[in-house]
Amino acid sequence: MFVERPRSHVSALTPPREHFCDPAQFRRELEAIHFSMWLYAARADELPSVGSFVTRRFADAEVLLVRDEAGVLRAFHNVCRHRGTRLCHDEAGRVAGLIQCRYHAWTYRLDGRLEKAFHMEEVEGFRAEDFPLASVAVAEWGGFVFVCLSASPPPFAEHLAGLDVKFAAWQLDELVTVERRAYTLKANWKLVVANYHECLHCPVAHPQLNRLSHYLSGDNEPMQPTYMGARMELKPGVTTLSTSMSPPRSPLPGLNDEQRRHVYYYALLPNLLLNLHPDYGVAFRMNAAAVDRTEVVCEWLMHRDEVARPGFDASDAIDFWHQTNLQDWELSDLAQAGISSRGYRPGPYSNREDLLVAFDEWVLAKLVR
Ligand code: FES
Ligand SMILES: [Fe+2]
Repeated sequence: MFVERPRSHVSALTPPREHFCDPAQFRRELEAIHFSMWLYAARADELPSVGSFVTRRFADAEVLLVRDEAGVLRAFHNVCRHRGTRLCHDEAGRVAGLIQCRYHAWTYRLDGRLEKAFHMEEVEGFRAEDFPLASVAVAEWGGFVFVCLSASPPPFAEHLAGLDVKFAAWQLDELVTVERRAYTLKANWKLVVANYHECLHCPVAHPQLNRLSHYLSGDNEPMQPTYMGARMELKPGVTTLSTSMSPPRSPLPGLNDEQRRHVYYYALLPNLLLNLHPDYGVAFRMNAAAVDRTEVVCEWLMHRDEVARPGFDASDAIDFWHQTNLQDWELSDLAQAGISSRGYRPGPYSNREDLLVAFDEWVLAKLVR
């Protein structure tokens, strides 16, 4: 069992080393959190037509997402029902009508039904209908496709917990992915989440960000059962986060004045981090690959009308966040390196790190349950 965080005259301390370094705790987190909750898997625009597929790794699971003949999104374990061979090898592509295993050519329809199983005719009692691809729950919101690897997925609406209403004005399904970059961090996934939810490091690590949005302008929402979030105010005269003094985009059409003055930072736990700016979005899809390794794919999302405009150029937003990402990932790696060393002792949180305290407690509560 996890050791409860020690208390002292300082009301809240960072967790003990095992929280970030113990493979057994990591396994428990996979079961209690990642494989029990809904995971962000793809943007719907990655699966535009019948036969489009992507494969996505979540720790030791791999999911195949495919659009079937009826246009319905399906998710399966990417594993052949014959002798377990990995089915689709590519990260993305399009299959023509059927999915065939490369080993002995068992063939599946896009809805997962087993169409042809060679050399099984003589096997007494064998029925193809008993061996469809193992399906995985799939749901969609705002152009984000989620999967849940639990045998009894919680209702998706419960997972969204009203964020669909809260962010309705951003019309997220109108946004298209204009850039996607992959990063591998030598850090536990919780350090990535924690780093995302405090900006005390901003003046030191992100001078370019702090120039546009003051690090103490943050406004946290209390921790929620499935998400945590905050927003930060843009400085007077600043319209968005960008490397350009005059970013070449209009604000998203549905936003009111207050929404145009802030950047929203939300984590839909456990693996989607979402930055909503007045004129674009950035989504981070995480895979908790190992106790000390997290794969992050960063996606830049812009309104389809902007993208259709002649001379459309997103490089100001891409450069801004790529630079910020590298700064954050380096800090996360350093945090993992320090915490995993023998000299680490839990340290005191400041009062402005209250969301991190709540997140530590959220993880512990999940593990106890
Ligand atoms: S393992 Fe796939 S057909 Fe044999
Ligand atoms: Fe940061």
